[in-house]
Parts: sequence; structure tokens; C-alpha cells
Amino acid sequence: MKPALATVTLFFFLFAFSTKPSHVSASTGEPVVDISGEKLKAGESYYILSAVSGRGGLSFEDFGNDTCFHVVVQESSELSKGKPVKFLPLNSNDVNTSINLNVEFSDTIIGCPESGVWKITKRISEALNVGTNGVAGVGQSFFNWFTIEKAESDGAYKLKFCPYPETETIVCQDLDIFFYGDDGKRYVGLANPGQFETLEVVFEKADVNGGDAEMSR
Ligand SMILES: *[C@@H]1O[C@H](CO)[C@@H](O)[C@H](O)[C@H]1NC(C)=O
Ligand SMILES: *[C@@H]1O[C@H](CO)[C@@H](O)[C@H](O)[C@H]1NC(C)=O
Repeated sequence: MKPALATVTLFFFLFAFSTKPSHVSASTGEPVVDISGEKLKAGESYYILSAVSGRGGLSFEDFGNDTCFHVVVQESSELSKGKPVKFLPLNSNDVNTSINLNVEFSDTIIGCPESGVWKITKRISEALNVGTNGVAGVGQSFFNWFTIEKAESDGAYKLKFCPYPETETIVCQDLDIFFYGDDGKRYVGLANPGQFETLEVVFEKADVNGGDAEMSR
């Protein structure tokens, strides 16, 4: 893969922020389960809720003067489940821990022509954050790949950015929450200890026929 200029810039920031390296094991992991104990299914819709109380689910928002909602945030209210996502695992239908997968918002993004596929981007300050307009599938940018890992707390999971294909130089890194200025938004980005709040999550199957899902498909 020949990195474009933007990719080279991202390389730089990945080095600059890779203070907490970790490696995905060669194992194929184990099935990720939702809060009902059911295995997650590829292509189905789930809310990514906070594992700790007092915070909401993951959603999309605008940043600064943007007219389009395209950065991934955590809702600050526990009452908001956020927007459901689909997990699209690499070369398999198993949503296992430690398997590379694409993540895509199930809903059309309000006011935004972009795709709902997650990718790592440098949109906010010096931090690398998770945004939308990625492309799912093999052969696309390796900034579009994530994994789910078991967290230390019982039953909770962590989300990681984890490039595919694997490289020697870019390590998998936890996604955590950071803040920018006083806009009150809880942005999801690559962990930079000291400035970030840990993000531990659980998954709840989205009921497309009710609740506050409001699927706009
Ligand atoms: C997912 O995990 C299960 C149980 O450990 C295993 O049997 C299966 O092969 C794994 N799937 C993949 C694609 O690695
Ligand atoms: C938003 O626009 C105002 C006025 O043009 C500008 O001063 C400000 O820096 C912009 N904010 C961001 C985050 O770009």
C-alpha cells in the first residue's frame, strides 16, 4: 500500500500519540455478547452503551462550525442510547473479540451526505478522533478498522482502533473519551493517558420497531 500524503500525516500523529501500545493476539478471540447474553451478529444493529452509569450511548455530532454531523461522540445523558451501529467483521460473520471489523452507523447521518462508516481522522485539535465517511471492506484505508476487546470490568468491553493489514509501525490503541474546549461534547478518540476518560462499553440490540431507535431507513 502506498500511503498518500494525508496518510503520512496520520502516521506522524499515530507515533506522537502511541504512548500506550498493545498488540492483538494471534488468537481468533471469543464471541462478543450483548447485555442479554446473546452473541452479536454481523450486520445487525446494536447500541454501544456505557458500561458505567451516568453516561449515554455512542452517537454522531457536529464539531465547531460544521453543518454536518460527522464526529463520533458519547451522549452525556444516561437516558440517551445514541445511534445504533452494525459490526462488519473481516472475512467472517463472527463478531469475536480481537477480530478486525468495520463499524457503521445503521441510520443515515442527519444533515450529512457522508457514509456512516467509522474511521480515524484528525479533525479536532491535536487529537485523533473517530469520525464518519470511512469505507468498509478489505483494500480500503487501514484507518477504518477496529476491534472489540474484553475490558477489565466484568462483562464490559473496550473498543480499539486496530489497522488492517497489520503493520509493524502502527499499533492498536484504545478508544477513549476526550474533551475539546468547553463545548461539552464527549468525543471518541485514540487514548492519550492523562487527558482522556476511559471508555468501557456494553452492547444492546436495537429494536428497529420501537424504543427510541427511530430508524430513518
Ligand atoms: C470466534 O470464536 C469462536 C469461539 O472461540 C471460534 O470457534 C471461531 O472460530 C471464531 N471465529 C473466527 C472467525 O475466528
Ligand atoms: C467558527 O467560526 C468562527 C467565525 O468564523 C471562527 O472564529 C471560529 O474559529 C470557528 N470555529 C472553529 C472551531 O472552527
